[in-house]
Amino acid sequence: MQINQINEATSFIKDKISDLPKVGLILGSGLGMLADEIENPVKIKYDEIPGFPTSTVEGHAGQLVSGQLKGLPVLAMQGRFHFYEGYGLDAVTFPVRVMKALGVEKLVVTNAAGGVNPNLVPGDLMLITDHINNTSQNPLMGPNDSDLGVRFPDMSTAYDRDLQNVARSAASELDMNLKEGVYVWNTGPSYETPAEIKMLQTVGGDAVGMSTVPEVIVARHAGIDCLGISCISNMAAGILDQPLSHDEVIETTENVRQTFLDFVKEVLLRISNG
Ligand code: HPA
Repeated sequence: MQINQINEATSFIKDKISDLPKVGLILGSGLGMLADEIENPVKIKYDEIPGFPTSTVEGHAGQLVSGQLKGLPVLAMQGRFHFYEGYGLDAVTFPVRVMKALGVEKLVVTNAAGGVNPNLVPGDLMLITDHINNTSQNPLMGPNDSDLGVRFPDMSTAYDRDLQNVARSAASELDMNLKEGVYVWNTGPSYETPAEIKMLQTVGGDAVGMSTVPEVIVARHAGIDCLGISCISNMAAGILDQPLSHDEVIETTENVRQTFLDFVKEVLLRISNG
């Protein structure tokens, strides 16, 4: 049963860390360096933790980092698990269950995403206001464990309104042009075709990526408030007359590194100050 695995992983982590986390951070492709700023860090490799899957994607360190950021006890995932790597959605979202069991109340989820809305430009940070699950997959399929959450969880405020306002005021404090929009989850690993991107524009998508939505669904099931931030790493297929590459995704996230770090830290400071 998943609950036993959750408990086992949770007590393993509890034994190693000094402060129970209040805020969880999931750091996407090229955005993992935020975990390097955590004070008094305790690092735990995924492959040491009972029940944890192991990360395979290049550029992902594959560890939990616990400690303080802006005075807040946080637990960061430096590298996440993707459905396209072949993990089941149980495995992809397992760390969110463990975060909940450790006491996490708020989750900041970040990703690199392709810009679908032509008003976005690579390098933009986009506050996720809502999402579209374009995969027909759901991490909650199967029997529901009512100790973990309800059978039919509400998703009308998947991205917490108060946290969105915190993000907006953090951005204005930093004079940042924070974009906003709807994130579409596709499984990947192939990027989209131009026709698929036209379809996503028609249905109201602003950015597209291969992560985040399963973690947010499970977090909402668990009663965790979510804040989502996309780093627009490229324009989605067909918007510009050029092919897409993972190298471009990583290069752009590296270029916005400092803005991203400053922004998330300002958000955490505001959460910390209540
Ligand atoms: N499509 C899907 N996922 C992505 C993209 C994209 O264009 N860029 C970064 N992740």
